[in-house]
Amino acid sequence: VLNLVRPTDEEWISRARVDLEDVLIDHAHCEKKAASTAVGLLFRYPERRELLEPLAALAREELAHFTEVLRHLDRLGIAYRRLRPSPYAGRLLEAVRDEEPGRLIDTLLCLALIEARSCERMKLLAGALDDPELRALYSGLLASEARHHQIYVDLACAVDAPDRVRARLLELSEHESRVIGTPAFMTRMHA
Ligand SMILES: [Fe+2]
Ligand SMILES: [Fe+2]
Repeated sequence: VLNLVRPTDEEWISRARVDLEDVLIDHAHCEKKAASTAVGLLFRYPERRELLEPLAALAREELAHFTEVLRHLDRLGIAYRRLRPSPYAGRLLEAVRDEEPGRLIDTLLCLALIEARSCERMKLLAGALDDPELRALYSGLLASEARHHQIYVDLACAVDAPDRVRARLLELSEHESRVIGTPAFMTRMHA
């Protein structure tokens, strides 16, 4: 279960097929950012022993995804470069509460929703791209991203009572559906 309230609009996949180069470069950035975010939590919450190993494992896995995507960029002759990021993650994280433990719980749940949205879109890419190696890449990765979604939800449940976490996840998912539904005038994994 990905806990997403709103499915991706059908026009996204047609845009992604046209702007595939941007989507692939953005995807590489997203994997790098996912690793960096997990490492950032290791710095911010050193006393939360139960988070450290899952987050360290997650960061390693996201960096492996990063290098996997880089190899596809090389194969397709696409140069990795800076790309204006989608405003999605920043807007999503605006809903994070200021006080602990709400700040940690909300951060984990927003990261869970980012993973869920990645997974949903990778499934669309796996079904729609012409290049069989890219289809295979996305079929492989989407299972990891679904697992990452669950890991972040489980970590939030280690910090607070699961029924409260569930209720908050629903609220944040409704917020996520508004953020992903906002036109961003760029084609990205999360725009
Ligand atoms: Fe990943
Ligand atoms: Fe992930």
